[in-house]
Amino acid sequence: MSRDVHIIDHPLVQHKLTLMRKKDTSTKSFRELVHELSALLAYELTRDMPMQQIEIETPLEKMMSPVIDGKKIVLASILRAGNGFLDGMLQVLPGARVGHIGLYRDPATLKAVEYYFKMPSGMEERDVIVLDPMLATGNSAVAAVDRLKETHPRSIRFVCLVTCPQGIKTFHDAHPDVPIYTPAVDRELNEHGYIVPGLGDAGDRIFGTK
Ligand code: URA
Repeated sequence: MSRDVHIIDHPLVQHKLTLMRKKDTSTKSFRELVHELSALLAYELTRDMPMQQIEIETPLEKMMSPVIDGKKIVLASILRAGNGFLDGMLQVLPGARVGHIGLYRDPATLKAVEYYFKMPSGMEERDVIVLDPMLATGNSAVAAVDRLKETHPRSIRFVCLVTCPQGIKTFHDAHPDVPIYTPAVDRELNEHGYIVPGLGDAGDRIFGTK
């Protein structure tokens, strides 16, 4: 099985991520950056989406021209930090459907506990992009994809802003068929389950809750 990790090393992506990591970046700037970055990530995530030729008419003549194949893409946001990705992704994928997966991390065990799950109908014909800014322990990502697979989507991709070797291993031990798209693989997890050097708590930084 593939265990694919796509490192998105485009200079614009790396530059914006550096600004987001800085501890003195304000909530306003952080939010703007995550918005800009997610549009750039969507561009990379959809690079290998299947295409189909449809007949259209230009002002001059008919032609066959490519469009993304199949029903609409689903952006599956792992609450709450995943929602930070939505606006930017929807700018590039305006017709995408949006699903939500509510998981919280039990502070004692660091395990994921589900409290909400809502996806659009017809998942069998849809391609899903799972959104979670931090692939840290990997526990929530594994739980989210476990649940998503029960809906039998056509494909699943996972995107984050930052991950670490432990998160990738845990995720791919459970779901080797789901590619990870990330701009950064950081050094390690600390004892609290935070990625270091990382960027802190992504949810708190997006929503200004600290
Ligand atoms: N969640 C975060 O927001 N940050 C981390 O570093 C790990 C998990």
